[in-house]
Amino acid sequence: MNILLIGSGGREHALAWSLADSPLTSRLVIAPGNPGMEAFGEMFPIAVDDLDGLCTLAGDMTADLVVIGPEVPLVAGLADRLARLDIAVFGPSAAAAMLEGSKAFARAFCARHNIPQPAFYPVSDYKSACKFIEQLGGYCVIKADGLAAGKGVVVADDAAAAKVAAKSMLSGQFGSAGKRLIIEERISGPEASLFALLDGENAILMATAQDHKRANDNDQGPNTGGMGAISPSPRLDKALEDQVMAEIVDPVVHGMAAENTPYHGVLYVGLMLTEKGPQVIEFNCRFGDPEAQAILPRLRTDIVSAMMATTTASLHHFDMRWDQRSAVTVVMANKGYPGNYEKGDVIRNLEVAERTDDCYVFHAGTARDNNGDLIAVGGRVLAVTALGDDTASARKNAYEVVNEIAWDTGFYRSDIGKV
Ligand code: AMP
Ligand code: GLY
Repeated sequence: MNILLIGSGGREHALAWSLADSPLTSRLVIAPGNPGMEAFGEMFPIAVDDLDGLCTLAGDMTADLVVIGPEVPLVAGLADRLARLDIAVFGPSAAAAMLEGSKAFARAFCARHNIPQPAFYPVSDYKSACKFIEQLGGYCVIKADGLAAGKGVVVADDAAAAKVAAKSMLSGQFGSAGKRLIIEERISGPEASLFALLDGENAILMATAQDHKRANDNDQGPNTGGMGAISPSPRLDKALEDQVMAEIVDPVVHGMAAENTPYHGVLYVGLMLTEKGPQVIEFNCRFGDPEAQAILPRLRTDIVSAMMATTTASLHHFDMRWDQRSAVTVVMANKGYPGNYEKGDVIRNLEVAERTDDCYVFHAGTARDNNGDLIAVGGRVLAVTALGDDTASARKNAYEVVNEIAWDTGFYRSDIGKV
C-alpha cells in the first residue's frame, strides 16, 4: 500500500517506524517529517496546516491510506477533504475532531450522553466567569475552549488566581481559542490515559499510558507538551479499563454515531481516577506525544491492518496484541523549554541506542546542519524509549541510553516512571 504520514514530531517518528515495519506498506511518504524518519520513507516539506498541498500530494502519490498525526489538520478538516477524494484516512472528520477542538463541545456531548465528568460552565464574558468561579469557591479550573497547544488550562487554588486567568484568556492570550472559556469543578485523583480505536460503530481498547506534563522532577515547573510517558499505566487495571470502556468510550462511539458525526480513528481519553470513579479530563482526537512513543514499541499487531479497520467499521473482528513488557519514554528537551531556548547545538552519540536491545530514539525537534550533523532546533528534541520486564527495569534501560547521549544544552526529567 502507498501510505502518507502527516506530521513531524516524536509521535510521527514512532508512527513511521511502526508503519514501515508493516508487510502491507510498500511505499511510505512523510510530510513534512524530521531527520529521524529519513530511513523509513520519502519526505516532502509540506506543512501540516497546508491542506491543499497535502491533498495534492496524497492524490499525486495515489495514497491508499493517509495517517494524520497531529490535531491541527484534523480539526481543520483534512480527513473530510481526503474522504471526498476517496482516500482512506486514519483520523476523524472535523465534526468528530470537535471532541478535541472545542472543550465546550466535548463537555456538552458528555453531558448529553451521561459520561462521567466534573461540573462545568461555558462562559464568554468576564462577569459570568467570575460568577461561576465564586460559585465553585475559587477552587476550579479555567480552560480556553479551542486548541491552545496544551497551554490553555489553568488549575486555580483560589478565586483571585482563577479570575486573573479568565481575564487574560478572554483578552486574547490564546487568540480566538479563548473567546469562550469553560469554568470547571476541580476534581482530584491520579491521572491516566486510555487509547481506544473507533470505527464509527465499535470501539476497542488499544493501550493505556501515563504522561508526565510538568517540566521538572517531582511534577514541579510549568506544564509542557509532555516530558515523558510510561505504558501501560500502572493505575489502570483490567477492571478499571473495562469500566472506562463501558462508561466512557462506548457512549462516545454510540453517541457520535447517533449525532451523525461518526468517529473514526484513535480516541485519547485523559482521565482522573476520583473517589467517585474515572472522570473525563479531556479528549484528544489523535495519539498523544510522547505517549505514542511508549505505546507503539509494545504493539505486536500489524498497525496498518488496525488503521484500515477503523475506516471500514470492521474493528469488532480485530484482536490487538501487545508485548506484555513495560515501556518508559524519557523526553530530552532544550534548556529553557517550554519558554525560550537556544537553537543549533549539536547532538552526538545517538548510535548508542542502535547498540542497545529494545531501545528507540525518536526525533522531534531535530534538523541537520550544513555538515550533516544533527542539531537541536525545537523545544522537545528527542524521546528515548526502552522496554523492560517492569517499569523499574524499563526506566533503568531508558536512562542508561539518555545518559550516553552527548548534548550540552539538553535537559530531561530524572523521575519518569518512578513509582
Ligand atoms: P488538559 O489540557 O485538559 O489535559 O488539562 C491539563 C491538566 O490540568 C490535566 O492533566 C489535569 O492535571 C489538570 N486538570 C484539567 N481539568 C481538571 C479538573 N477539572 N480538575 C482538576 N484538574 C484538572
Ligand atoms: N502528551 C499530551 C498530549 O499529547 O496531548
